[in-house]
Amino acid sequence: MRKFIGIRACVFDAYGTLFDVHSAVGKHRGRLGDKAGVVSGTWRTKQLEYTWQRTLLDRYVDFWRITADGLDYALEAHAVDDAALRDDLLHAYLRLDCYPEVPGVLSTLKDAGLLAAVLSNGSPMMLEAAVESAGIGHLLDAVISVDALGMYKPSPEVYQLALDALEVGRGQVSFQSSNAWDAAGAATFGFRVAWCNRFGQTRERLPDAPDVEIGTLDELPAIVLP
Ligand code: LAC
Repeated sequence: MRKFIGIRACVFDAYGTLFDVHSAVGKHRGRLGDKAGVVSGTWRTKQLEYTWQRTLLDRYVDFWRITADGLDYALEAHAVDDAALRDDLLHAYLRLDCYPEVPGVLSTLKDAGLLAAVLSNGSPMMLEAAVESAGIGHLLDAVISVDALGMYKPSPEVYQLALDALEVGRGQVSFQSSNAWDAAGAATFGFRVAWCNRFGQTRERLPDAPDVEIGTLDELPAIVLP
């Protein structure tokens, strides 16, 4: 087991890492029938693609609009024409389930005196709703959105937001993401990175690799605490 030395702050990606993005479709699975899995998968894929494409195009819109655009693409691509379901799915994104180990892990880090923060593409409104719905606000020192910057991960400027908010150096941050490309981007920025590979993804072929791969966040305290 690899240990990170000198960590003062743990910074977490939100969607897919703390919050289960597929729980939105999960809440309305019966209304989508056998299309539930493909709709959820396409929705997430297009949502992420639009963040990269809009950043490259210099045409930022916030993550709520991106999430709606990804959903509309997914529903049309899979021939689902139901306006009420569309609105219910979109609003379910404000009340995603958090993964079961999240509150306990955040408590352990806090009790040990580490800072904990969220750094996410999510808009402030979305993040506030998700954190409140999961009941984890009291365990976080900062909830940081890319929105003030107007560009998405993995732009290096995004990772810098965490340093500015927490007043720590980049070598003092352990960054956690389930998104392999986000983990790689954070490694390039200079964070220590634990890739929480919840989905059994293949490692990316990008300039830098995460320092460790874990299956759930339960493994994190042993890596970052002395
Ligand atoms: C986020 C996306 C990348 O929360 O999951 O930033």
